[in-house]
Amino acid sequence: MHGYSKTGIIGGGNLYDTKILKEAKEEMTLTPYGRVHYYLVGNQPLIIRHGIQRKVPPHRINHKANIFAMEKLAVRYIFSFNSVGSLKKVIKPGDFLIVDDYINFNPVTFYDDVIKHISPEISPELIDVLSKILKKLNLKFHQKGIYFQTSGPRLETKAEINLIKNFADIVGMTMASEATLAKEMDLEYASLCSVDNYANGISENTLLAEDIMKNQSKMTKNIEKIIKEIAEIKI
Ligand code: HPA
Repeated sequence: MHGYSKTGIIGGGNLYDTKILKEAKEEMTLTPYGRVHYYLVGNQPLIIRHGIQRKVPPHRINHKANIFAMEKLAVRYIFSFNSVGSLKKVIKPGDFLIVDDYINFNPVTFYDDVIKHISPEISPELIDVLSKILKKLNLKFHQKGIYFQTSGPRLETKAEINLIKNFADIVGMTMASEATLAKEMDLEYASLCSVDNYANGISENTLLAEDIMKNQSKMTKNIEKIIKEIAEIKI
């Protein structure tokens, strides 16, 4: 058994083509939900949720396998990076935002055969850690915000955005599922979102998936720095 770190990372579209991944060792673990490929960054497991070849669309991500794998690898604190669209003009593409709550009306669960209801929560302790790291690196970020999860893979209609912008700050397709499953496994979880676009209809420009991907890679350098800091922390 490896001497795994208690911290683990789940990353998204911002992490492809990074030095960190090029230098990391690729590993695989089996879970009751399927196999999970991950990287070892030092002794810290890092899962790329869209798969190493970027072929897994958001609605097909095996969140249960990913979270189960983290628990199996002795991780207790999960730091997640999620790409999002902004629902507010003041939250601009290029900004970072630390999520403090979320809305998801299609939750996933490990509890299919037993009646159990967790109280969802993003880890206040890990929010604090993220906030300290971003300040140390002098990065601009929003201290808190509500994440609205849609199921994808299509982007939202303007009418949908018009509705949800009254109740949330950012929109994405992955984080709430991970946060819920992590809590069900009693793992601490927090997310740093990279704002890669204005959601459909928030700006006058037509929203194109290609533009979102271009912006995602602009955030990569800073995310690499943050991951290096996470590897150093002692919780
Ligand atoms: N909507 C949903 N998910 C996203 C977006 C968006 O605008 N941008 C990045 N992930």
